[in-house]
Amino acid sequence: MQFSVKSNTLPKSRVQGLVLGCFDDFKLSSMGRDIDAQSAGRLAKLLKRDDFSGKAGQTLILHDLEGTNLDRCFILGLGKRGELDADRLIIAANAIASTTKSLPIKKLMISLDDVIACDRDDTWLATKLTEAFNDAAYQYLAMKGKQTKSTPLTLASVELLAEADRSKALKKGVKVGAALSIGKTATKDLSNAPGNLCTPTYLADQAKALAKQYDGLTTTVLDEKQMQKLGMGAFLSVSKGSDEPGKMIIIQYRGAAASVKPHVLVGKGITFDTGGISLKAGAAMDEMKFDMCGAASVIGTMAAVVEMALPIDIVAIVAAAENMPSGKATKPGDVVTSMSGLTIEILNTDAEGRLVLCDALTYGERYKPASVIDVATLTGAAVATFGSHVSAMLSNDDALAAELSDCGNASLDQVWQLPLHDEYQHLLDSNFADIANIGGPRAGTITAACFLSRFTKKFKWAHLDIAGSAWNSGAAKGATGRPVSLLLEYLRRKAA
Ligand code: BES
Ligand code: MN
Ligand code: ZN
Repeated sequence: MQFSVKSNTLPKSRVQGLVLGCFDDFKLSSMGRDIDAQSAGRLAKLLKRDDFSGKAGQTLILHDLEGTNLDRCFILGLGKRGELDADRLIIAANAIASTTKSLPIKKLMISLDDVIACDRDDTWLATKLTEAFNDAAYQYLAMKGKQTKSTPLTLASVELLAEADRSKALKKGVKVGAALSIGKTATKDLSNAPGNLCTPTYLADQAKALAKQYDGLTTTVLDEKQMQKLGMGAFLSVSKGSDEPGKMIIIQYRGAAASVKPHVLVGKGITFDTGGISLKAGAAMDEMKFDMCGAASVIGTMAAVVEMALPIDIVAIVAAAENMPSGKATKPGDVVTSMSGLTIEILNTDAEGRLVLCDALTYGERYKPASVIDVATLTGAAVATFGSHVSAMLSNDDALAAELSDCGNASLDQVWQLPLHDEYQHLLDSNFADIANIGGPRAGTITAACFLSRFTKKFKWAHLDIAGSAWNSGAAKGATGRPVSLLLEYLRRKAA
């Protein structure tokens, strides 16, 4: 979908669709007044019927408004005048995006008269509009057969109409939104792919394909033999039970002029999590194909970053493995040695994410990172705590945590910090090794982060547990593309 910014004038030729914002006082914007004059007062009259209240997100479609050249005029509710904040704008943007997506409209115009956020700038507005339309239009059709009729979406371009003095900021926002949408789409496509297609090898191939597509990226893949040499016994204890070989995938982006310290992103890439010998219950186990959403979001973020050509260096490390029970699988009670040298007693093979992540984090040390953020569908406890709206965040650096909270609020891809207090660390004590891989039934998200914190002492680190936010269950089952928005916001600030 193409987004552009145009001047705030009504076109002379026919228009398939024009969106006009309207507050609940029904006072027309300047373009609204022009259209009202063309239609001899019909627009104002229709608005005063009780069909439309002006509530944020409510839409009224007027067909063939007499005297105008509009096939469809969409009146989009904006709520109370003076209270158009980020939350209301998102409600309105999502509403108009889903209303228009199924209509036979090729080009949609949106008049931004009166559409000004009281708490955000126009760059944010254009980014979010672009994101909302791309999210609404997203479909995962790769696995549908020939017999399935899929009606392709007609909407191909959206024009934002605004006064000239807003054009620069809006154009910048459209650019960010387009890059963000490429990243989110890549993330969703990888995440939604079934486990029999999306194996560790597939993720590695996709990462290589990305590096082929973009000059700015290079991809290196470590196989199990190389990981053995590096001493990644924790990672290998997970992939051991599977016939699919594990892969450590490293994607490098160099955008900074001088050699500055890179920011490192680490993604959990369990392409299917059966739990291993500590086998999961059957219900909803299919959703464990989403246990690589962290990896997918990190890969998608790299695509967005290279699209924007951000002047900064980034390294993405994806720990990709399948967690399966088998005659070769790791058993509860087994002890393994991680790359860091710490020995781990594996008391539950379903706590596998932290095992692949700890070696990826140790590997990250070699880049002398400015910051490290890992993204993982790590604990069911994060789902129980936060549901789907915010991601859990834990960090060993208060400034980094504050920055990420801020970026979450800016992007509306929000995080909420949980304590990483020392008092929790003893829950990981083991009678037989340096550390156990589970901390018992309580404070599951915190003890998982405590485990990771043992491997992140050498850098500023934040952990994002996206178990609740990465995908939707139920009728609209599918990946959300989170937290690409958050990560892109963070990296854009680092590049500024
Ligand atoms: N991938 C799961 C976490 C998960 C579960 C995410 C459900 C989303 C929905 C992770 O590998 C896991 O199994 N974690 C265990 C850890 C426990 C054994 C300490 C959990 O959360 O139950
Ligand atoms: Mn698990
Ligand atoms: Zn898992």
